[in-house]
Amino acid sequence: MSRKRYLAPSLLSADFANLEAAVRLVEASGAALIHLDVMDGHFVPNLTIGPPVIRALRRITSLRLDVHLMIAHPERSVDDYIAAGADMLSVHVEADPHLHRTITRIRDAGRRAGVALNPATPAAAVEEILPWLDFVLVMTVNPGFGGQKFIPTVLPKIRALRDAIDRQGLDVDISVDGGVGPDTLPRLVEAGVTIAVAGAAVFGAPDPVAAIRDLQAMLQ
Ligand code: DX5
Ligand code: ZN
Repeated sequence: MSRKRYLAPSLLSADFANLEAAVRLVEASGAALIHLDVMDGHFVPNLTIGPPVIRALRRITSLRLDVHLMIAHPERSVDDYIAAGADMLSVHVEADPHLHRTITRIRDAGRRAGVALNPATPAAAVEEILPWLDFVLVMTVNPGFGGQKFIPTVLPKIRALRDAIDRQGLDVDISVDGGVGPDTLPRLVEAGVTIAVAGAAVFGAPDPVAAIRDLQAMLQ
């Protein structure tokens, strides 16, 4: 099955003193999604943004907000992120023992639901939940920071997930997050990725709009 592929620029590497400028760059590039990293200082060793900032971004853009929850007990706050305006919401399998309940709440609210996996978590950890998902978010770095080095040993896991999704005849995207750039994207596309998150490769580039367009062209 040939699927449309999307680039999701991550605001994590943008200037947090001027997030609106970063949003305008993403809009100018023609990208449809923007990736927002929520970190709680517990599940990951870093702290970023929460519902108030997402609500503020929701007010200024119609880009689809892809909210990645790197937080402990995501079930306690998914409703806040839904209310803040997230279009896509992912929770980590390592953080939620009741994934089916949380995923159902996200989908019942009419949002796209995803499960994220750390690099050391096997594909089998999400196999039973696949039929309820809109996307799987595969981490290719240990979550917490932008600009880290891609972990290539995750590639077979992406292939295994793509096989499992196709075998079951499901309509589930595979998103990849961490160290995505011109050097890693071709292997990711070949492995079956349909959404590519990129932070440093976009906002660390001299011309972020051109960087987004170049990565998008590589995705097609
Ligand atoms: C890392 C975040 C990523 C981050 C990726 O924990 O989940 O979304 O922005 O950044 P790069 O593309 O710089 O590796
Ligand atoms: Zn992320």
